[in-house]
Amino acid sequence: MAVIDPRRMSRSRGRTAWQSPGHDLTTRQILTRRSLLAGGASLGAAAALPGGLAGGPAQAAATPAVPFGGAIQIEFIDKDPAYGPAFLDHCDLIMPQNELKFSMMRWTREEFTFEPADRLVEYALSHGKTSRGHCFVWWGATPEWLKAINDPAEVEAELLGHIHTVASRYRGKLQSWDVVNEVIANDPLTEGPLRDTHFMRTMGPRHIPLAFKATAEAHPEAMLVLNDYDLEYVGDRCDARRKVALQLVRQLQDNNIDIGAVGMQGHLYAELKIDVEGVGRFAEELKSLGVGLIISELDIIDRHIKGGAEEQDAAAMRSVSDLLDAVLPTNRPKAVITWGITDRYSWVPDVMPRTDGNPDRPLPLDRNYMPKGWYEMLRRRLAAA
Ligand code: XIL
Repeated sequence: MAVIDPRRMSRSRGRTAWQSPGHDLTTRQILTRRSLLAGGASLGAAAALPGGLAGGPAQAAATPAVPFGGAIQIEFIDKDPAYGPAFLDHCDLIMPQNELKFSMMRWTREEFTFEPADRLVEYALSHGKTSRGHCFVWWGATPEWLKAINDPAEVEAELLGHIHTVASRYRGKLQSWDVVNEVIANDPLTEGPLRDTHFMRTMGPRHIPLAFKATAEAHPEAMLVLNDYDLEYVGDRCDARRKVALQLVRQLQDNNIDIGAVGMQGHLYAELKIDVEGVGRFAEELKSLGVGLIISELDIIDRHIKGGAEEQDAAAMRSVSDLLDAVLPTNRPKAVITWGITDRYSWVPDVMPRTDGNPDRPLPLDRNYMPKGWYEMLRRRLAAA
């Protein structure tokens, strides 16, 4: 079949950086977080998070039609007393942004680092929130030691072993897992259909169904998600990316894998036009296959929007509203999750900063934790969906 035919793979494109337009996140930038995370890891279970971690049974939150969530980071929770409570005030779901990534849990082949993820998942559950897992297969979080292994059987054993240990540990605590993240080629028209990664070069396309099967075995109740970016805009490249996503979904289903949802990351480039019709058709096709949608990493990349806060927020309002127009009537998302909660802490200015000196405004709350108009609009629409 087209998607997982290894003969059609482009090889060794020589780029390890993030390949979406303007993205240039390197593995190195990701790894610089190690020291911060190690700090979190050194805190034992007794080190309670702000707001308490008594750890009683999770209270069932009164969940709205479409739950709203945020991705949280361990390094800010102790440092900024307003940070954790902002998630508690605004979110139905709180998920670790980085702490469940393969490379973040496996600094060495021998050890697992669980503490940062444990703390964040516990923080969510002990406050009556839900949580979800991100992610097993991702080119951007493949440990260096794993990339040094070239024997396909060995890579397979490490990948599946990792999934088994981690998915089992969080069984019953996470609602869903991003099993694979960004496996679609950046531009399937010229280099696809799948991204050239270490897993592709060693195991080939079968690493995708194998990762799904391993997750399902270790945590049968978890909703399994295929997560990817640039599925949202007008143009041939995004059309092609949506087609590959659908092909992958069908192939997984042909392999008797119960894929629950596609995650549309929703890192929205504010200057690009959302393809309301195209995304709507995509959402409908998924629905006809019995597959849901999650908007999984929403934020606004506004570096090409001229002007200040007013113009930036107006552009954000348009993008978010268009995306909701596409998905709410067709395949109501199972959750909408923003990639952070406050403009104080976001990956966007690290990777795609504005150059005019104005601060970026990617997230629902500003630097003073004040909600923006587009966030209020989003919440109203999710509540009414
Ligand atoms: C990013 C985090 O936001 C950063 O804190 C980290 O340094 C690198 O990863 N797509 C994804 C996410 O699926 O995992 C990425 O998160 C952002 C792009």
